[in-house]
Amino acid sequence: MSATLPFELLLTQQAFGQSPYAAGTPRRLSDIKDSFGDDAAVAAALQIDNPIIYDFHALRSIEAGQKLIFGVTTIYPGTVGGEYYMTKGHFHAREHDGDEVYMVVKGNGYLLLQARDGSPQTLEMYPGAVYYTPATWAHRTVNSGAEELVFFSIWAADVQYDYETITRRGGFPQRIVQRDGIPVVVENAKFHLD
Ligand code: PA5
Ligand code: MN
Repeated sequence: MSATLPFELLLTQQAFGQSPYAAGTPRRLSDIKDSFGDDAAVAAALQIDNPIIYDFHALRSIEAGQKLIFGVTTIYPGTVGGEYYMTKGHFHAREHDGDEVYMVVKGNGYLLLQARDGSPQTLEMYPGAVYYTPATWAHRTVNSGAEELVFFSIWAADVQYDYETITRRGGFPQRIVQRDGIPVVVENAKFHLD
């Protein structure tokens, strides 16, 4: 079994995108269309364009012995039906899966969380802030600013992702929408427990 070799990487989306150690694909509106509250607005937007909502690159777990993975996410600024661009969001699937740390590099937004029992928590994201998310809390990030929201994340290499529960529940308990030009936290009418 070979050991993971030390390496360095500049903390930018571009550097991660070009690294032979990193993998990732852009997520477009069509990939996350169920995440938004206003289905008609999503359909109308897709008639015109299929913009990239966020880019995400993570270190591939290519070498035996790699126990941590880190990644960088850039959510672009924008709204659909008055709701800010966001990530798909997921649970870490298994009970023994590891926790996760985020750190905001630049931009402003929100970290939407839900526990297994559906309890919500919503935290503001701002440059320099760090977040600890226990594995049992699903997490989605939202860019509520006029610039890109860029954040760094670190998690255990063997974590498995559960996106399906988020889709089945209709997303997260709360949404971030634009009202009179500013972000407001509102209840998500589509959310329901299993
Ligand atoms: O591991 C994480 O929680 C993050 O690195 C996310 O995977 C990343 O922000 C992309 O979000 P999602 O996986 O929900 O599409
Ligand atoms: Mn995660």
